[in-house]
Amino acid sequence: MIPSIPTLKSNQQFNQPVLRICGDRSLEGEVRISGSKNAVLPIMAAALLSADECQIRNVPQLEDVTQMGRILEYLGVSVEHRGSVLNLNSASLSGIKAPSDAVQKLRAGFLVIAPLLARTGMAQVPLPGGCAIGSRPVDLHLRGLEAMGAKIEVREGVVHAYLKQGDRLQGARIKLDFPSVGATEALIMAAVLAEGETVIENAAQEPEVADMIGFCQLMGARISGAGTPRIVISGVSHLHGTEYRVIPDRIEAGTFLAAAAITRSPLTLTSVNAAHLRSVVEELWAMGAMVRAEKTPSLETSRLHRLRIVPANKPMGRVIKTRPYPGFPTDMQPQFMSLLSTANDNSFMIETLFENRFQHIPELNRMGADIRVQGNQALIFGGARLVGTDVTATDLRAGAALVLAALAAEGTTTIRNLHYLDRGYENLEAKLEMLGAKVERVSPLNPSPKKSTIVSPLPEEIAASESILSA
Ligand code: UD1
Repeated sequence: MIPSIPTLKSNQQFNQPVLRICGDRSLEGEVRISGSKNAVLPIMAAALLSADECQIRNVPQLEDVTQMGRILEYLGVSVEHRGSVLNLNSASLSGIKAPSDAVQKLRAGFLVIAPLLARTGMAQVPLPGGCAIGSRPVDLHLRGLEAMGAKIEVREGVVHAYLKQGDRLQGARIKLDFPSVGATEALIMAAVLAEGETVIENAAQEPEVADMIGFCQLMGARISGAGTPRIVISGVSHLHGTEYRVIPDRIEAGTFLAAAAITRSPLTLTSVNAAHLRSVVEELWAMGAMVRAEKTPSLETSRLHRLRIVPANKPMGRVIKTRPYPGFPTDMQPQFMSLLSTANDNSFMIETLFENRFQHIPELNRMGADIRVQGNQALIFGGARLVGTDVTATDLRAGAALVLAALAAEGTTTIRNLHYLDRGYENLEAKLEMLGAKVERVSPLNPSPKKSTIVSPLPEEIAASESILSA
């Protein structure tokens, strides 16, 4: 049941732009997927490892990328982001202390600790603190750096990491308690300039980790085992500059696949790596959605009449469990909850990575979904008739879940807290508009909607992405 009185919002929220989506429309056409946010952020940190210029291509224009650029600039790095090309030059690296406000806003900012330590022997980086989806400690990062010889002290919320003067980090055998993406990336960055060999066991296998490894290898790092749980790094004394092209964003691609399924629409996604989306596509297949990867690097969906969940021999309905890669990604969990609400049958979602990642559920329920939570499990009743209302994004992927629900809902949905969406989706409303959605960003100070535009990639960029990507 949808409550008739909207929840109270703060004045600040009312002064921010909102997204208005007029739903219940079919989409059609082709959408180009941007470069991966979660790959480019650690790659930007890794550029600190060399005093030479690095050029990174296929970089999305996103708030998180801007924020990471500010952290690097604060440390003395020259940062130039034009279109989808990012030039970083840390020859003039002058600081070892990362700015607190920026690291508070962007957890990935904490990643600069390892390259700063490896290159200068010292780093001072504020603890990233909790965030909306959970407490997210960095104990695995710090224990790994200690195992490599760093002294670590935490004073007034700032991590001070240092080596004895003239010392280098030392290679070590590190077994992670959990395959943390951030800890794996940090320890690889520490190990590439360390003395001797480092072995990381139970490493994260996410494509974004492998992408950062690819970037480091082009800088001269000696690393094997990318994409496996055992990564071996032989330290070198110096890394040089390079040019690198970032992988496509698998979470953006997954979100558009879910948009196709929730609106039962035929879409073509270009510049994708289908292999990175296997677990997501398998869940869509299990719902009866047609997703094909015939003309790589693109993925196609077909028009659908209904989503029919295949229960996979579970008496209570289909169960999706978030897991580290290659399992189903936690970053697709909120979007799939919107989708599963519109399927023919009930299903369960179990969130195993983050303890507080169900904040989108009350908002989806206000749109007519029926999702009940117990601990880290959610029971999603299928067959919901979603109806547009006024909702608020509580984090990036929660915002994406609301956009999907709004595309399928009858009437108009107004989504607040757009800054979350701006952190991770490049040109979201322009891309949706091109597919036929009725979406507008409305500023309270200027109520006539802002027209969205897409900066088209250069033909040589498209050609390059098509030759590099494979399914
Ligand atoms: C990255 C992604 C994020 C994604 C997540 C899981 C980036 C910029 N962000 O975040 O979008 O949701 O992977 O796929 O790439 N943990 C510890 N101690 C640590 C580190 C992590 O207990 O030292 C725990 C976390 O609290 C969490 C789990 O490990 O429960 C996963 O975290 P992690 O894989 O490190 O995620 P991030 O790198 O922060």
